[in-house]
Amino acid sequence: MIVTIDGPAGVGKSTAARMLASSLGIAYLDTGATYRAVTLKALRENIELADPDAIADLARHADIRLTCRQDGVGVTLDGEDVSDDIRSLDVTNNAHYVAGCAAAREVLVALQRQIGSELGSFVAEGRDQGSVVFPDADVKFYIDADPEVRARRRCDELAAAGKPVALETVLADVLQRDGRDRSRPIAPLVKPDGAIEIDTTSKTVEQVFGELLRWVETRRCR
Ligand code: DC
Repeated sequence: MIVTIDGPAGVGKSTAARMLASSLGIAYLDTGATYRAVTLKALRENIELADPDAIADLARHADIRLTCRQDGVGVTLDGEDVSDDIRSLDVTNNAHYVAGCAAAREVLVALQRQIGSELGSFVAEGRDQGSVVFPDADVKFYIDADPEVRARRRCDELAAAGKPVALETVLADVLQRDGRDRSRPIAPLVKPDGAIEIDTTSKTVEQVFGELLRWVETRRCR
C-alpha cells in the first residue's frame, strides 16, 4: 500500500502522516529529510547554495540513508547521524535552494523511489509525492490550511519551546515558503491528480488523522 500526503509547510502533514503510518503498521517516508540532508551538507562544506551545478554535484555525492519507522525517520549523511541537525533553522531557511534545483531533485526523487521500493508499503509525505514521485499511489491526499492558522500554530509551538516569535514574522515566513513551493518551475506544490483534498484549518490533529484513516479504509475495501 502506498499513500502520499502533499501540502504546504506547517499544515500538520508530518504528524498526520506519522499517525497514519503507525496505525496502518507501515513505514513513514519523510521526503523533506532528503532535501534537508543535502542542504546541511552544502552549509557544512560552504558550497554556494545559489549555484545549481554545485548543489547537484553535492546531491550526487551525498550518502543519504533514511531509517523509515512508523513513528518517524532517522537520517544519516555520509555515515553520520544528522537526524537532529537537519531540523535547524539554518537548514529550514536554506532548503529551498536544493528544492529548487532540478538536477538535485532528479537525484533525490530517484533515492526516494529506491527507498519506497525497498519499503513496499509506506506513507510518503512531501510536496510532489502524488504528482511526481509516486503518481500511481493507492491513495493520495492533498492537505491545506489557511496561512494565518498555520502561522498561529507555529507561533504556539515556538512559544511552547521557549522561543517566542511575533505572529507577523511567522506569517511572513509561511507566505514566503508557500510562494516558493507553489511557484518553482520544477515539481511545484500542486494538488495531485486524483488526490483527496483535506482542509485542516478548523480541525484538530486527531480529526485530520481520523479522516485520513477513513479514506484509506474506504479505498482498501474497494
Ligand atoms: O517538509 P520539509 O520542511 O521538511 O521540507 C524541506 C524542504 O524541502 C522545503 O523547502 C520543501 C522541500 N521539499 C520538496 O521540495 N519536495 C518534497 N517532496 C519535500 C520537501
